[in-house]
Amino acid sequence: MSASEDTVGARLLAWYDRHARTLPWRSPPGTPPPEPYRVWLSEVMLQQTTTAAVAPYFLRFVERWPTVEALAAAEDAEVMAAWAGLGYYSRARNLIAAARAVAERGGFPDTEAGLRELPGVGAYIAAAVAAIAFGRRAVVVDANVERVVARLFAIAEPVPQARKSIRERTDAITPDTRAGDFAQAMMDLGATVCTPRAPRCLVCPLSDACLARASGEPERYPVKPTKKAKPLRRGVALWIEREGNVWLVRREGRGMLGGMRALPDDGWSARADGSGAPAGEWRQAGMVRHGFTHFDLELRVLATTAAEEPLGPGEWWPIDRLDEAGLPTVFAKAAARALG
Ligand code: ADE
Repeated sequence: MSASEDTVGARLLAWYDRHARTLPWRSPPGTPPPEPYRVWLSEVMLQQTTTAAVAPYFLRFVERWPTVEALAAAEDAEVMAAWAGLGYYSRARNLIAAARAVAERGGFPDTEAGLRELPGVGAYIAAAVAAIAFGRRAVVVDANVERVVARLFAIAEPVPQARKSIRERTDAITPDTRAGDFAQAMMDLGATVCTPRAPRCLVCPLSDACLARASGEPERYPVKPTKKAKPLRRGVALWIEREGNVWLVRREGRGMLGGMRALPDDGWSARADGSGAPAGEWRQAGMVRHGFTHFDLELRVLATTAAEEPLGPGEWWPIDRLDEAGLPTVFAKAAARALG
């Protein structure tokens, strides 16, 4: 390690003391950590989702369920509905299971290994909670940290192969004290200075140690893998209306959007061309495009006014209170089409 690398931790912490972002799940730099419940909840929400999108959800959750015991006692359906719009709904199902496990054992485990046993807690969340809530030295690598470290050391391998060496390098610069502040400092540096495009190297506390900057092309790092195109699926969502109500179903079990309320649909991939409309008089209400992790979906919205109860389980939901139904974003978009 060069002399400038050796001081990376100290310089970053000094920078954090002056520039830390104020976020609702955080304690200011150098002060006692927040409750483990708040740290864990925020990290689950922040995995795959931006701080701006998470903040209002986080505040609503902690107001409604101020402790992990309160969350453990909540109805599954209430939690799923409160999660609606954040996406990646298996996170919400794991959240409920983990809250119950923590309540049962009488508190959060305070080590990375113990935390990893909780449903939905992988290497990243375990390390982040151990560091931020319990002050343990842990190697915390999220997408922001990955970018900072790939640039600092000009790691030429593409991700995901580079992950191992990124992890080792992060370990090498992680200080023994203020582990939580260091992890969050790296995240803040990645989010506000060492940004994916147009990094602000002139205000970076690490610029003189940064090999990517020395190369003159910091944006080239981390080196991206060649990307496969996402497949496109087509499907149909049904808007069935009667006397100011719309027919909603609850999606099955653990599959895609499982446990969430939804408009009835055709199973999306079941009819590959999305052309199959059920019998009856249907109005074409428009088209919705939505990107999921592994495919893009083009959803045709068909609308009708029902004379009788649709077949199968479901419920009539008042259209003027549809925002309380907790529809996942793709169905909220479909509803907006149907409502013109
Ligand atoms: N992204 C994930 N965890 C975070 C945290 N604790 N602060 C800011 N951004 C984050």
